[in-house]
Amino acid sequence: MCGIVAYIGERQALPILINGLKRLEYRGYDSAGVSIWNKKTKVYKRKGKVADLEAFIGNDDLTGNIGIGHTRWATHGEPNDVNAHPHMSMNGKFTIIHNGIIENYSRLRDKLTSFGVTFKSETDTEVLANLIEYIYEKGAVDAELAVRLALSKVIGAYGLVIICSDEPDKLIAARKGSPLVIGVGNEEYFLASDATPIVEYTKSVIYLNDGDVAVITKDQLTLKTDHNKSQTPIIQELNIDIGEIDKGGYEHFMLKEIFEQPRSINDTFRGRVKTENDKIHLGGLYEVMPKLIEAKRILIIACGTSWHAGLVGEYLFEDLARIPVEVEYASEFRYRNPIINKDDVVIAISQSGETADTLAAIQLAKEKGALVLGICNVVGSSIPRETHAGVYTHAGPEIGVASTKAFTCQVTVLAMMAITIGRSKELISDSSYQNLIKEFNLIPEKIEEILQNSLIIKEAAELYKDSTNSLYLGRGYLFPVALEGALKLKEISYIHAEGYPAAEMKHGPIALIDEKMPVVVVATKDSSYEKIVSNVQEVKARNGKIIAVVTKGDTVIRKMADHVFEIPETNPVFSALLSVIPLQLFSYYIAVMRGCNVDQPRNLAKSVTVE
Ligand code: AGP
Ligand code: GLU
Repeated sequence: MCGIVAYIGERQALPILINGLKRLEYRGYDSAGVSIWNKKTKVYKRKGKVADLEAFIGNDDLTGNIGIGHTRWATHGEPNDVNAHPHMSMNGKFTIIHNGIIENYSRLRDKLTSFGVTFKSETDTEVLANLIEYIYEKGAVDAELAVRLALSKVIGAYGLVIICSDEPDKLIAARKGSPLVIGVGNEEYFLASDATPIVEYTKSVIYLNDGDVAVITKDQLTLKTDHNKSQTPIIQELNIDIGEIDKGGYEHFMLKEIFEQPRSINDTFRGRVKTENDKIHLGGLYEVMPKLIEAKRILIIACGTSWHAGLVGEYLFEDLARIPVEVEYASEFRYRNPIINKDDVVIAISQSGETADTLAAIQLAKEKGALVLGICNVVGSSIPRETHAGVYTHAGPEIGVASTKAFTCQVTVLAMMAITIGRSKELISDSSYQNLIKEFNLIPEKIEEILQNSLIIKEAAELYKDSTNSLYLGRGYLFPVALEGALKLKEISYIHAEGYPAAEMKHGPIALIDEKMPVVVVATKDSSYEKIVSNVQEVKARNGKIIAVVTKGDTVIRKMADHVFEIPETNPVFSALLSVIPLQLFSYYIAVMRGCNVDQPRNLAKSVTVE
């Protein structure tokens, strides 16, 4: 999710906001805006970059000592001027900037609409602004109480800052699920999503915790919990320089994004899994779900890592929903004059939503009359606009060219779809469904556990950083993981690597095996475990170096492998989500040790918008 900046004190707010938003630029975003109070609230907001916002403001008078600014990573409502933040409530009492997702926004919006409230934008944030104003005008004692009461009705995540026109000498900030930091100056305060926009003004900061509500005037800060319990703010001294914070303290965006995966999967779950009626809720597919359930075939079109996610999808849909699936490289599909039947459903998968080959394949599928769905990470990008319906991954901005959190979020969405369809077709019993959902919800913390053991992976990487080739093997759900692991190594360390179905070894590639060939085997416990043990033995017999991803506690492969990366046990349908993590880290550490440009590998682009 993107960026928040706010200021209250003696200085002019605007330059602090603009500089701060530029500091958050690395987080990626689709629009930006500011609001300054000076006898009244002025709001300037624009689709595009901060530079576009600056040009839009031009020489307009935006003097004032209190202001809020926002860079948006859209989750509800495409990127445009109207959906950009700050959002003002209907009667202009409250101006708000928000990072996060209001899950129950549509129910709240319907309720407010029935009370005569009108809306300008499609965002969930504007719903919150109007809910606060509605409660305030219904007689809430003051702005803070109105905010607190409104937040008690909200389900979701937020980091937000609010200005109330009746109390313009203060900022009200609240945090739940999206970060918010307060910089403490001399009779001035700074707020931001992270310390990046603050550190040049002050190193004294207060990190808000979930549930905190802060009321800030230029010379006083009061901090309370969401139960209105006062608490003493804990001021910490920043000991990092500006260069590091851009990446949240990580050396590279790719590493940051690998470690963000527990959160990004939780964000992709938000409002969809473990909902109140215990059904998986994919709002974007509501209209087309009957067609999906009746589909005679699913065609998945994508490129690169997204194609690998699609391959996991093939196993998921065939396993859980018993629908035949074909996974196509978009670049091949678009020129092959493919056969598409009227009860086929096409699913396009893309992180950027701008991949030229995938867009062209979508066009072709639509021309042939197929229902075309999208799974995409960038709200308002071309693919969501070109497809009939779809589901957004809420991975947040993925800056590293090598896709990591987008992949696991794509697989998360595919699993949600397959489970929902399988249940609707009564192929999944209620008890199996409950068990699947229970295990699904444990995936983020299981990824967290793998990430805590990254040192073992780093130590192994040291031994293989000078390899010239590598093989990656897997079976079933783990075959696409082998392909993805090989792609990660290739694209960031420039070591040639090939992924294969493990059983394919004996049909040729085994000729490559010798003591110089590292063989990465994804061999976690599932129905084909015994088979892959034999494949490992075949490699061992030829002195291949074996690096195995195994289920925690594995004793069989551990005896044969040179290195094992353990992952927690999970249901095989979720095994791709866990087993890919060690491979992401393995390729990352090798690339760093080889001095490669991990975030911008040579010859690559984050979004391939040309053929
Ligand atoms: C993945 O690490 C690569 N950067 C690349 O293969 C990428 O997945 C491919 O270009 C597809 O991009 P998209 O998901 O944005 O469509
Ligand atoms: N959900 C809000 C929106 O889509 C905020 C997104 C963000 O965190 O930037 O506008």
